[in-house]
Amino acid sequence: MDINVKEQQYVINTYTNRKITLVRGDLVYLFDSNNEKYLDFMTNYGVNIFGYNQKTITVGLSDQLRQLTTLHGSFTNDIRARASEEIIKRCGGLYSGVFWSNSGSEAIEAALKFAVLKSGKKNFIVCSDGYHGKTLGALSASGNLAYTKMFSPLLWDFKIIPFNDTKSLETAIDNDTAAFIVEPIQGEGGINIPSQSFLKKVREICIKYNILLVIDEIQTGMGRTGTFLASSNIQADILCLGKGLGGGIPVGATIVTREVQNSIPKHIHTSTFGGNPLSCRGVLETLKLLSGSRLSHINSVGEYFIESLLSINSKYILDVRGKGLMIGMVVDTLKRDTILKLLQDRHILAIPASSNVVRFLPPFIIEKKNINILMKNLKEIFDIL
Ligand SMILES: Cc1ncc(COP(=O)(O)O)c(C=O)c1O
Repeated sequence: MDINVKEQQYVINTYTNRKITLVRGDLVYLFDSNNEKYLDFMTNYGVNIFGYNQKTITVGLSDQLRQLTTLHGSFTNDIRARASEEIIKRCGGLYSGVFWSNSGSEAIEAALKFAVLKSGKKNFIVCSDGYHGKTLGALSASGNLAYTKMFSPLLWDFKIIPFNDTKSLETAIDNDTAAFIVEPIQGEGGINIPSQSFLKKVREICIKYNILLVIDEIQTGMGRTGTFLASSNIQADILCLGKGLGGGIPVGATIVTREVQNSIPKHIHTSTFGGNPLSCRGVLETLKLLSGSRLSHINSVGEYFIESLLSINSKYILDVRGKGLMIGMVVDTLKRDTILKLLQDRHILAIPASSNVVRFLPPFIIEKKNINILMKNLKEIFDIL
């Protein structure tokens, strides 16, 4: 039986079926079952930040497979200890401790519980078009009614305010507010970039009204926007990481300040697989690769990418926006999925965001020559649309 048909038969069909069967990856390429190669501008929604079969990561993970893959959090482990120290150091600021989990949504679940433990309150403020995952707590924090309305009432009290609107934040805060949860750049919501001073003002407001600031860097973090964190100069109380953190291995991290850490009692939040040595090794190898020169590369190819997109002349392109290698091309809503399909037919993989954005989250090893191939194909596609 055709593999695609078989998977569709047995897997609960909650995803769009892109109708290609990918079986292997090598650096910036994915290969289908006929060994046809595809240029990857999606990294599985931001996971494979160093591409596929990257030597440092593959060798490290293979070694770790032979050493130890799983170890419950009640036992200590050399790799977990090192990964925890490294991630806290790399995040800088006043962060003091990490809770390891297995996905972005789980990182958010922990953040919500930690915010309640610290504040004693259960009301949150979130942004419209915000996305934090689809488990029930993370979903409660979603600003997208399409995902939430079937399941309401959801958790506690979540007030939705417009993104990039500090006045609305100030108005929404009351005595029962525990925290404000925000992405530095909205990914799923359409690569929405706030004003430069937004996060700084948010921080000031959270201090003024004594509420916690939870920054969701699950998509923007780990160098994606050209700095290690998109919120590099802003101190969150709780910071969430995921996606690219483990170099392709599932992992989530909820990173907190000492003050938050001190309010988390034993046993209140745990995870059997959280902090397993295999994913922690993925974190260590990934951090090793994420050097200053790699960040410079992300910035320079990211700028080139955006300039190249801006140089395409088409009435269907409504906007181009992005930072580092988190880039969105806003197009006519009716044409968006056709563009993705035509790219895929030409063996180039990109992904959607919002209803009208072609989203590019390429691996950090992407080169100008790969971007040129994308541009050539995009120009041809816009010519025939
Ligand atoms: C900003 C943000 N937060 C949370 C999540 C949820 O992560 P996961 O799908 O790993 O649960 C995502 C996933 O796209 C995300 O982009």
